[in-house]
Amino acid sequence: MRGQVKALVLSGGKGTRLRPLTYTGAKQLVPIANKPILFYVLENIINLGIKDIGIIIAPETGEAVKQAVGNGNKWGVNIEYILQPEPAGLAHAVKTARPFLKNNPFLMYLGDNLIGTNLRKFYQKFLEKNPDAQILLKPVTDPSRFGVAEINKKGQVLRLVEKPKHPPSNLALVGIYMFSPKIHEAIAEIRPSWRGELEITDAIQQLLDWDCPVLSDILEEWWLDTGKKDDLLKANTIVLDEWIKRDVQGKAINTTISGRVVLPASARVVNSQIRGPVVIGENVQVENSFVGPFTSVGHGAKIINSSLEHCVLLDGVEIINIERLEDALVGRNSRVVKNSALPKALKLMIGDDSVVEIP
Ligand code: G1P
Repeated sequence: MRGQVKALVLSGGKGTRLRPLTYTGAKQLVPIANKPILFYVLENIINLGIKDIGIIIAPETGEAVKQAVGNGNKWGVNIEYILQPEPAGLAHAVKTARPFLKNNPFLMYLGDNLIGTNLRKFYQKFLEKNPDAQILLKPVTDPSRFGVAEINKKGQVLRLVEKPKHPPSNLALVGIYMFSPKIHEAIAEIRPSWRGELEITDAIQQLLDWDCPVLSDILEEWWLDTGKKDDLLKANTIVLDEWIKRDVQGKAINTTISGRVVLPASARVVNSQIRGPVVIGENVQVENSFVGPFTSVGHGAKIINSSLEHCVLLDGVEIINIERLEDALVGRNSRVVKNSALPKALKLMIGDDSVVEIP
């Protein structure tokens, strides 16, 4: 292997499918079980022993990403930020990061991709076989939304296409790739796609055209693209289900806490029932309420006289007098309040692109 392996994390983009949350924050910082998606990504990279990590940021959300992540000191790694002035594609991001990547091999990881495994096997294979590119594939029901691979019976990659109308298979490209510096030569050859972006998929196809070794593996564990509300609730459910352990430290007065519940010392629960898996953030207050399975409650939230289940509440949310809240994703500092002085009226102040469903 030539040179130490670096990592490039992509945390730019506009996150249009997660609006309105992404008007005020980066999609990679949206929390799953109260931890930003980007942190799961960084932990997976750091666990491989990679010490040099570059993070691609966008002008709109870069500062928020920097603030949340820092310089890597807390993990004993070096984190550098690379500004991509416009979302011109994944291959363009690699081009922008060239001064950081130099001629080192690297792991590229999209900051909104969450997978149900570590990357040890995948990484080990790259170190041993030394290919020019290595990709991860996952069967999906809607391949047109992704990059798609055609492989033969031996698992060799024949062809890659980005978001094809007529997908040649159901194997989507997961947003995790390994590259040798040969990828830079391939990127220099490609042209923007129909969506005006320099696609990494096209650059890997260029390597195939040159007969460079491109290896692939099928990902056996789950993979979640957290780009939309339902995907995000599903990701929250899976992460709570598989990775959360009971850790109850907060004050619970006249309250039943059953199952795998995380309740930090600064949280306070009175006259309530909490049924796991549930994660509660710092300084949360719960009163006369039921917090049901698969719910994440962000820091500083308040839940009073309400019942909720399968919800993701971000920091500072207030839920008051709500009989039943289900499958809800509530953005930072939003309030959902039932006011019985207004029996037939719905009073709303809702951000752009919000969705309110009423029975
Ligand atoms: C990008 C890649 C696509 C890949 C996907 C995985 O798509 O272009 O090939 O399958 O990430 O998340 P985008 O998120 O830019 O639509």
